[in-house]
Amino acid sequence: MQGWRAAAAALMVAIVLGVPAADAAELRLPVAEGAVDRISVTARARGCERALMTVSVGGRLHKTVGFGRRWRRATIVFDPAPFAADVALAATRCRLKVRRVTAVPRTAPVALGTAVTLKHVADERYATTLSANFASVTTENELKMDQTQPRSGEYRFENADRLVGWAAARSLPVRGHALVFGTQTPRWVWHQRQFPDMVRKTLRDHITTLVRRYGDRVREWDVVNEAIGHEGDWRSNAFYAALGPEYVEESFRAARHADPTAKLFYNEIGADLANPKQDAMFAMVGDLKAKGLIDGVGFQMHVSIHEGPSYEQLRATLERFAALGLEVQITEMDVDADGLSAPEERLARQAQVYADAGRACRAVPACTRFTVWGVADHVSWLQPGKVPLLFDSSFAPKPALEALRLALQSPPGA
Ligand code: XIL
Repeated sequence: MQGWRAAAAALMVAIVLGVPAADAAELRLPVAEGAVDRISVTARARGCERALMTVSVGGRLHKTVGFGRRWRRATIVFDPAPFAADVALAATRCRLKVRRVTAVPRTAPVALGTAVTLKHVADERYATTLSANFASVTTENELKMDQTQPRSGEYRFENADRLVGWAAARSLPVRGHALVFGTQTPRWVWHQRQFPDMVRKTLRDHITTLVRRYGDRVREWDVVNEAIGHEGDWRSNAFYAALGPEYVEESFRAARHADPTAKLFYNEIGADLANPKQDAMFAMVGDLKAKGLIDGVGFQMHVSIHEGPSYEQLRATLERFAALGLEVQITEMDVDADGLSAPEERLARQAQVYADAGRACRAVPACTRFTVWGVADHVSWLQPGKVPLLFDSSFAPKPALEALRLALQSPPGA
């Protein structure tokens, strides 16, 4: 314990920006990549009695700080730690003379999230376990198109509203999942596939309607889910059949346009190991990033105790995508623990698989969240009887919970 505390303390050493004492209307943060716990700015007003500095995160105002004619140091604390590239500082009223800006890289643990589904939130033990152990939620099915627009132009938001409201009442940030997902697209879109213009309109209307409706409460969206096949080919779905690969960019454009400050993700299954799917995804998201249309990439990680990437492999994957300037997240992890060995052995191995993934995320500053696909074994989407999650069917914590928690708060790279 002592050892990692000391290492964490060493990491606290602030990165100092070589900002010359200069007038500034807009300031750049000293770190462009990774998350930051806090920043401090030493500055004074120039040209008026009192200048204001606005601090925005993801395009939304976080705080306003006043500076008079004398040098003053102001510290701005973030909780949760935002991705540094999302933080913008600007002087208003008059200019600021800035002596230095320092930023402390994230030292807090990576946030742990879970999938949530409406049918379970009424269960007291489910709700309590979720609130006490998870810092964010992903809607498991309620925001998918087959549920939100089961018939053309007929939107149904009752379930999504209730679930998003439930999360908001507990101050749990919501990841919106997923605006465009071939598998859970209603059949009527497939019937439109001979008419590309019609499908394009369907796609735009759907995305715009959801992103606008939940704008305040859902700040992060999986815009497109599982577009790529195992060989790096395109998976067939109604949107692809009508529009070809272009549907992906079209989707991101519509989401960006509907809410320029929401965080937009591409989410994929089975791309955590270096393989043709990962390569195709890398090329695709690189192109979207170059066009300013995407903010992050999610790796689902539905794995088992018998396969799944090692710490080194996953870390390399996360670093590869982070190098594009994207956030990366583990978005749907579960670890199937079926096998012939003794149950305790399998649960110990499961803990190890979760911990390896957690350490890999912790080691990469751009890895901003770690989400598991469900609260407890009996609510898992996998077949009944499987035990892939962090709590057992009586909501008792499994070895994997403690192992993952430690991994997510370990010093990066340990
Ligand atoms: C699953 C849900 O958990 C199930 O309840 C539903 O029946 C099917 O979809 N990858 C994804 C998720 O991106 O949306 C899937 O969720 C699991 C695999």
